Amino acid sequence: MRPVFLIGFMGSGKSTLGHALAKATGLRFIDLDTYIESRCNATVREVFATCGENGFRDIERRLLHEVSRMQDTIVACGGGTPCFFDNMDTMNASGLTVYLQASHRKLHSRLLESRDKRPLISAMTDRQLLDYITATLDSRAAHYIKAGATFCADRLDDRRQIDESVKRFINQFMPEFTDTINKNK
Ligand code: S3P
Repeated sequence: MRPVFLIGFMGSGKSTLGHALAKATGLRFIDLDTYIESRCNATVREVFATCGENGFRDIERRLLHEVSRMQDTIVACGGGTPCFFDNMDTMNASGLTVYLQASHRKLHSRLLESRDKRPLISAMTDRQLLDYITATLDSRAAHYIKAGATFCADRLDDRRQIDESVKRFINQFMPEFTDTINKNK
């Protein structure tokens, strides 16, 4: 099976949903940020600090090409992955891309909780973060909507919501796994 790429803004739930989908289907899960970290032997924050954002984007592109060749894999991309180089074309040519769309309010509340881990927003105040989401989402949407499909990712905040979202995602985009998840219930 060709890879499934989850794309969307920081905090849209790519890693949460990707991990849960992999668990439900038995497919491999790759979080592109974690993959970068293990290959660079450094955190994303450290890669940004030593190589700058441009250096990070070069590495991200190179490793995206690597994971695009993997079969039976769910890939959670970074929020910026689809917005640089021809990354969106690479993903669309290699597998299924799904845009996890979440409301500004949802993104804001999730990012307030995880701001410290994310180098692009760690120094922002609550208000600055909201303005950043609004402005950046506007410019990034042009890339995100090139995805093959869109999925509402507002409901991923507890176990029950995640399970429901996994079921909905599989029924919509991976019908070959519908029996597998029903059997595992
Ligand atoms: C980024 C999002 C991050 C990570 C890096 C840059 C972005 O990934 O790749 O900090 O440009 O939006 P998440 O979306 O998984 O937080």
